[in-house]
Amino acid sequence: MAGLSLKHVYKVYSGRKTTTKNPVKLLINQIKKKKNTTRTPTVEKRSGDFVAVKDFNMEIEDGEFIVFVGPSGCGKSTTIRMIAGLEDISKGELFIDGRLVNDVAPKDRDIAMVFQNYALYPHMSAQKNIEFALKLRKIPVEKKDKDGNPVFAIDKKKIKDIKEKIRTVEFDLEEYEDEEYKQILTERKAALEKDLKYYSETPVQAYSYKHMKKDEIAAKVQWAAKILGIEELLDNKPAEMSGGQRQRIALGRAMVRGPKVFLLDEPLSNLDAKLRTSMRMEIVKLHKELKTTFIYVTHDQIEAMTMGTRIVVMKLGVIQQIDTPTNLYDFPENKFVAGFIGTPQMNFFDVSIKKAGTKLQTTFANGQTLNFSLGNLRGIDKAYLDGNSHEVTLGIRGEHISFAQDGAINNKTALNTTLNVKEVLGNITQLFVRITADGPDYIVSVPERNDYASGDKISIAFKESSIHLFDRETELSIMNREIGNK
Ligand SMILES: Nc1ncnc2c1ncn2[C@@H]1O[C@H](COP(=O)(O)OP(=O)(O)OP(=O)(O)O)[C@@H](O)[C@H]1O
Ligand SMILES: [Mg+2]
Repeated sequence: MAGLSLKHVYKVYSGRKTTTKNPVKLLINQIKKKKNTTRTPTVEKRSGDFVAVKDFNMEIEDGEFIVFVGPSGCGKSTTIRMIAGLEDISKGELFIDGRLVNDVAPKDRDIAMVFQNYALYPHMSAQKNIEFALKLRKIPVEKKDKDGNPVFAIDKKKIKDIKEKIRTVEFDLEEYEDEEYKQILTERKAALEKDLKYYSETPVQAYSYKHMKKDEIAAKVQWAAKILGIEELLDNKPAEMSGGQRQRIALGRAMVRGPKVFLLDEPLSNLDAKLRTSMRMEIVKLHKELKTTFIYVTHDQIEAMTMGTRIVVMKLGVIQQIDTPTNLYDFPENKFVAGFIGTPQMNFFDVSIKKAGTKLQTTFANGQTLNFSLGNLRGIDKAYLDGNSHEVTLGIRGEHISFAQDGAINNKTALNTTLNVKEVLGNITQLFVRITADGPDYIVSVPERNDYASGDKISIAFKESSIHLFDRETELSIMNREIGNK
């Protein structure tokens, strides 16, 4: 069991393909009189400074279930692979259980990783697949002298590893020209040289490595099989098992190693929807039983919401928000998180707001001005309540919109819309309404069925305490978490 600490962690990939303007293609297009084309022709160019993960900071407590979520390419796998040690950390520090592990080999980090492709050995039974790593693995045993005291010695293997890493960095320094990347490499080289000096001068506790005993291995496999409910499958080969069963074997293989941290990168994405749901619950149960730290990567926000004790929402390599599932849903700190978490997506209206007494006058694109009670809204940054008009984005989820009651029009709390499309989903009805003829559509999600048809006029009302406001430019929330403006 272990806590983790990531401090200013960066991942810079060198030699990534990027796109740039190509003057030759531009010219050809002009000659072909394709002047109305809005897309700039592009060509691939290799450049040395693609930042896949940027300034990742997080403290993970022992035993937490952390989920990394975000759209494809946002750096989830890169981050988890850095934690596993499968990718070098370009800059920053990673601590597992208080120990700096940037330069510790994956096998010495006490972590176990389960991937989307569980990659079981097809010719081996489930039992053999699970115990395989244990059979290969040598367990470190403290070296003792004849009086039983620990032995200290210079760690030659460590020194060799560090020298090898320095050589790689030096090679990259010669290869790449990008100044920012060079700076990162130079800092890394300096850190490695410091380590080299330390390990060359300082004797560290010495270990010898021994294989695990057969009966110990068997007991471990039995323990994992029992928790995972796969005892009857142990003699089966992967081809004789379902996707879910195979994924359980992969989990078993990770479990028997008794890791301090479980890393799971989209382990369920190859399974069908029903199996995903049941395996999702299995993994949550497993976490409860093992009480170990889990880090789980997914781009499925339902998985994130149902599994995580805390969720990290990422976009383009940058953390957007770290919070509990309900806080992410209730208090998104920016428009991206607001739109990413929750199905259907939150509605966003471009509005201008102005404080008038105890009301927030809110003008919509159709020219209507509604009056919301400041006392019912979450607290708004004072700068936006100075009596002037401010352009902001109003966010509201479909389930927080209802059909307006009589009198709402007079109270200026109902927005006039026209129904575009209606979808009856059985448990709820989704209405896609517009406030201007050419859209966009806003989703209203109501529990009751109704007789509205396309083209009907519908007045809708917002649950005031569930209104979100974001600065139009920065897209950051301008609200705090408390209801009421003083
Ligand atoms: N070896 C590499 N070399 C160069 N760029 C890479 C490399 N691996 C990943 N990238 C880039 O880094 C970014 C982050 O990739 P990463 O695999 O971490 O994304 P992800 O969030 O896991 O996405 P997905 O949901 O698709 O798995 C992407 O833009 C990707 O193209
Ligand atoms: Mg990935």
